[in-house]
Amino acid sequence: MSSYQSLEKRLGFENTLPVTEHWSAAPGFLEVISDYCLKNKPRVIVECSSGTSSLVLSRCCQMNEVGHVYSLENGEEFVDQTSQQLDSFLLSKYCDVIYSPLQDLRLGEEMYQWYAINNLPDVEIDMLVIDGPPGFLQKHSRYPAVPMLSKKMAEHCAIFLDDAARDDEQELVERWLNENPDFQGEYIKNERGCYILKK
Ligand SMILES: C[S@@+](CC[C@H](N)C(=O)[O-])C[C@H]1O[C@@H](n2cnc3c(N)ncnc32)[C@H](O)[C@@H]1O
Repeated sequence: MSSYQSLEKRLGFENTLPVTEHWSAAPGFLEVISDYCLKNKPRVIVECSSGTSSLVLSRCCQMNEVGHVYSLENGEEFVDQTSQQLDSFLLSKYCDVIYSPLQDLRLGEEMYQWYAINNLPDVEIDMLVIDGPPGFLQKHSRYPAVPMLSKKMAEHCAIFLDDAARDDEQELVERWLNENPDFQGEYIKNERGCYILKK
């Protein structure tokens, strides 16, 4: 069973990771994304929502001596909070927390509240980590990530979805797979479930 303590040890964090119960990514998810990151050394990581995951991914980039995290964050207070945490862990140079307020987005017949991505630089994404926007906001809250970012994804891009044990996430993964027949999905059964999608 993974824990924040074992993750801190494995990644050589000297200080305790800041964790907010129910909001921070679960240790099992952080273990999956950090293992992938350390093994594959992605250059560009984009994450939907900032927090403990930003610290973990930034630390992996530091260990890899390559890679940068662009973290889309809709809450101004969380932009400040994550930025301060990155500062205190001396990891700021590996991560930009980008204030990305939620805005109306029409996809086909449906309307969503999703991140404004006008401040995301023109990057080619090697790894996409999806842990927001919060599920209570709307049905299939995290669905827009793939249609909105797919044009920016490298051919080998790997996508990680947290909270994938929920019915809502299972449904939206099914939509992604139907709409992108070249994607393969792998489900990892951990605390809250994780889906990994790759071509
Ligand atoms: C599931 S959380 C993101 C967690 C992040 N990936 C991490 O590992 O810490 C999704 C979003 O919820 C918001 N959030 C984080 N902590 C919160 C809190 N304590 N109360 C309300 N909203 C919160 C932030 O806007 C965040 O981007």
